[in-house]
Amino acid sequence: TTLTPTGPPFPTATWILNDSIIIISSTNINDNGPEYEGRVTLFPSTGSLELRNLVLDDSGAYSVTIVPGEKISGTSVKPSPNLPVEGTSVNLTCEAVGPVFTRKWMKNNSDLTPTDNMILSDNNRVLTFNSVNRKDNGEYFCQTSNSFSSDGAKYIMIVNYGPEKVQLNGPNKTNIKDTLKLTCSAESTPSARFRWLRNGIEILSNSAEYVREEVELSDSGNYSCQAWNNITERTSSSVVHELTVTGLSAGAIAGIVIACFVLVAAAAGGGYFFYKKKYVG
Ligand SMILES: *[C@@H]1O[C@H](CO)[C@@H](O)[C@H](O)[C@H]1NC(C)=O
Ligand SMILES: *[C@@H]1O[C@H](CO)[C@@H](O)[C@H](O)[C@H]1NC(C)=O
Repeated sequence: TTLTPTGPPFPTATWILNDSIIIISSTNINDNGPEYEGRVTLFPSTGSLELRNLVLDDSGAYSVTIVPGEKISGTSVKPSPNLPVEGTSVNLTCEAVGPVFTRKWMKNNSDLTPTDNMILSDNNRVLTFNSVNRKDNGEYFCQTSNSFSSDGAKYIMIVNYGPEKVQLNGPNKTNIKDTLKLTCSAESTPSARFRWLRNGIEILSNSAEYVREEVELSDSGNYSCQAWNNITERTSSSVVHELTVTGLSAGAIAGIVIACFVLVAAAAGGGYFFYKKKYVG
């Protein structure tokens, strides 16, 4: 043939002599009878035929039919639903363009060993997780192949979960005028958002920290933080954290200062009165 070897996909070549098939390359079936045994070679990259140890019966009209192989392309792996949530069912569907003969799944570069939680169906087209877990996180690869070519696509699965284990950290006691810092954390994918409550009333939203530069007596109370995951749409709260602010308020201090001043003034006034009495009277 005049084909130049270009590697896969190689063509299907069928060689015919006087209306009977000698060889078909794609099937590798040598339905050519014992008379060709050991003296026929077909070169898959060009479709050329080699005949050795020629016999008189090799005379005749030869023809060849070459069908180009169809390459697989456009392999994709699509999740359903788009954002997997822990505890729900997820399908990964492997699609490709072209005559797909086989599909094979890998996880993190090793052959996929389906767990109890997984089902492969429709000739490996769909990988179903009955109840997906964060342990199923990883890179999934679907390899598609036929005898001419192979293709593949990957999907990195990130299972969304939480928030869980919401924790509020900070002091339970603080002095007036001190700086107060409370922090909130949670296990969550994606990261949780936090809101803060004092005695059940929201005091701050969208922050993992609650900071007061100078606390007042009125900052005493029962604090809690609430975590929210915008994908799982779940909310979870910390346990209640009691805060007591101790010490004197600015008003009390001013009162004491005035009281002292009055006492001093009274004493001074009293002294002057006795002084006057002694020397005038
Ligand atoms: C997964 O695919 C099956 C059919 O293969 C379908 O019945 C099921 O509803 C799909 N589940 C999801 C979560 O898309
Ligand atoms: C969810 O929140 C993350 C940040 O925490 C943000 O990047 C993402 O766009 C949000 N997604 C939706 C669907 O609101």
